[in-house]
Amino acid sequence: MENRKIEISYKYCRKEELDAVYQELIDKAIAATQNSYADYSHFYVGAALLLDNGDVVIGANQENVAFPSGLCAERTAIFAAQAQQPMQAIKAIAIAARNDKGMLESPITPCGACRQVMLEIEERYHSDMEVYLYGTDGVYIVNSVKDLLPFAFVSL
Ligand code: THU
Repeated sequence: MENRKIEISYKYCRKEELDAVYQELIDKAIAATQNSYADYSHFYVGAALLLDNGDVVIGANQENVAFPSGLCAERTAIFAAQAQQPMQAIKAIAIAARNDKGMLESPITPCGACRQVMLEIEERYHSDMEVYLYGTDGVYIVNSVKDLLPFAFVSL
C-alpha cells in the first residue's frame, strides 16, 4: 500500500497589496454583507463575483425560519449571475463576513455545498475561478476552486 498526498496552495496578503480591481471586488463583498438577512445566525456574509465581461454580481446570505430554506452568500451570487448572464464565466469571487461586533479578522471560507457549486462553474466554463477570502487581518487567495475542494466529484 502506498501513501499518496494531494497538495493545495494559497496566497496570503494584505488587501492593500492587491490590484485595484480585486480590492474593489472585496469592497463590494464587504458592502454586500449589509444585504444579508441573517436574523437567526447574526452572521452576515457577502460575496461579489467578477464576470468575464467585467460585470460584478453580488450576493448575501438569506436565512429563513425553516433553517434549510436559507442560502449562503456565495450561492445567491452565483445563481443570480447564472440566471442573468449564463454566457459569462466567473473569473473571481470575493467573500467577506461580519458578526454583530464587526468584520471578521480571519478570512471566512465557503461551506462544502458552495465549494461544489463553485467547482461546477469552473467545469462548465472550462475556466478557473480565483477566490479572495477577506479578513481584516489579511486575504487568502486561491487560484482555482480545485484548491478548496480536493478529491471533488466532477462528473457522472
Ligand atoms: N454562510 C454563508 O453565507 N457563506 C459561508 O461561506 C458560510 C456560511 C451563511 C449561512 C448562514 O446564513 C450563516 O452564514 C451562518 O452559517
